[in-house]
Amino acid sequence: MVEARRPAAAIFVLYGATGDLAKRMVLPAFYNLAELGLLPLNWRLIGSGRGNWAHEDFVGHVRQSLRAFGTEPHGAAWADFQRCLRFAGGDFAHDGHGALVEAIGEARAELAGSPQLIHYLAVPPQAFEGLTVSIGKHGLAEFSRVVYEKPFGTSQDTFRRLDRVAHRVFDESQIYRIDHFLGKEATQDLHVLRFANGLFSGMWNRQSVRAVQIDCPETLGVADRADFYDHTGAVLDMLVTHLFQIAAEVAMEAPASLEPADLQAARESVIAKFRPIDPADVVLGQFDGYRRLAGIAPRSRTETFVAAKLWVDSPRWRGVPFLLRTGKRLHQTHQSVSLLLNQPSGPFGPLPVDGNVLTFALDGAGEIKLQMLAKQPGVGLTLGKATATVPVASISDRTPLPPYARMIHDVLSGDRSLVTRPDGLAHVWKVAQPLLDIGRTPLRYAPGSWGPTAARRVAGRDGWLLGQ
Ligand code: BG6
Repeated sequence: MVEARRPAAAIFVLYGATGDLAKRMVLPAFYNLAELGLLPLNWRLIGSGRGNWAHEDFVGHVRQSLRAFGTEPHGAAWADFQRCLRFAGGDFAHDGHGALVEAIGEARAELAGSPQLIHYLAVPPQAFEGLTVSIGKHGLAEFSRVVYEKPFGTSQDTFRRLDRVAHRVFDESQIYRIDHFLGKEATQDLHVLRFANGLFSGMWNRQSVRAVQIDCPETLGVADRADFYDHTGAVLDMLVTHLFQIAAEVAMEAPASLEPADLQAARESVIAKFRPIDPADVVLGQFDGYRRLAGIAPRSRTETFVAAKLWVDSPRWRGVPFLLRTGKRLHQTHQSVSLLLNQPSGPFGPLPVDGNVLTFALDGAGEIKLQMLAKQPGVGLTLGKATATVPVASISDRTPLPPYARMIHDVLSGDRSLVTRPDGLAHVWKVAQPLLDIGRTPLRYAPGSWGPTAARRVAGRDGWLLGQ
């Protein structure tokens, strides 16, 4: 068992510090770690952004971000935290502004020893390359770590190009490509439950499982980030990123050990067994009204919904469909991974399809649910569906960590178990290529529905567990 320790002293450079991702996710997660005593004893966070903000304005911005998206900053915790914030303005990627280099130099002088330098790129993927080159040019790559958010590339070609640039500047051991779905508490329970319990390790295969459903509908729209979304779409934003990584987490073989490198290797190497997606197994949708949103092209063909069938050609999973679905403005928000179990042969005739299902709810603090058939009390023999639910928060008195806090802590402490790997991603883009080439106009669907009705057929006779 590995207990969380305080990582060594660090300088955390947050590129895109005044942007949306930093505001919603990174800054609140960083503060969260401070509150939990999981930050290094000595650290500096240097915000890098285009504007020439005064120090006080940046501190005010951080405070606003925590108020809106994290916990209320107050008292000694906030006073200590804000003392470690710095801001370096200017367009680092383009004019090589010296402010950041200077700020890093000052932070190094202020902190004792040799603090770990971390470059966190909370910027749109198009900016990854320019920033990476600038980091190298300014001699800031040595002894540092770099964090890229998903998607790392948007096709096989852009992935290869970005990978080349990243490796020209950094060694693979310095690169942290993160996908926050892997940082969710219940996601990690996928492998913990499986490898720690005989009941689950015995059933984790095609002999016991008839289908896997990874279903992430969202009621949320895209109005607050229309431009980004219209250039991205559900396939890149969710399917080949988050949902593929979760599929790999389910499908992986047992790692050689639970050491980070072995866990990472097990998850990322199974992606080579994913069969390229057959366009006939895909339904794309776009919700009515999408094209009328400000910032969306009036004739946009961007998909806001995708349902797809994925096959994993490994001896463990051959013939078991992995059904993936996600979309915006749907009927419900949920993130669930379900293993539908085969019906046992024996005295009972046909049983309900959803009679025996193991589900991991990834959203919120996470939940594990086991649905089973049991005898209804009383005379006679009538089956009833019974569910055992384990909220992750109930497992101990320790607080579940939000995924970004977990990922940032991993980066600070050099734990690469939840980081994606270039061989895995190279396969992701290969598997996804037929889907990226599909060139099909998405089917329309009503907001509040379950997406285009055609998506039903992707799930076949079992249907979608959450709803059609
Ligand atoms: C993000 C996607 O990566 O994940 C969003 O860009 C999506 O479109 C979000 O809504 C869902 O993740 P979360 O944080 O709600 O688990």
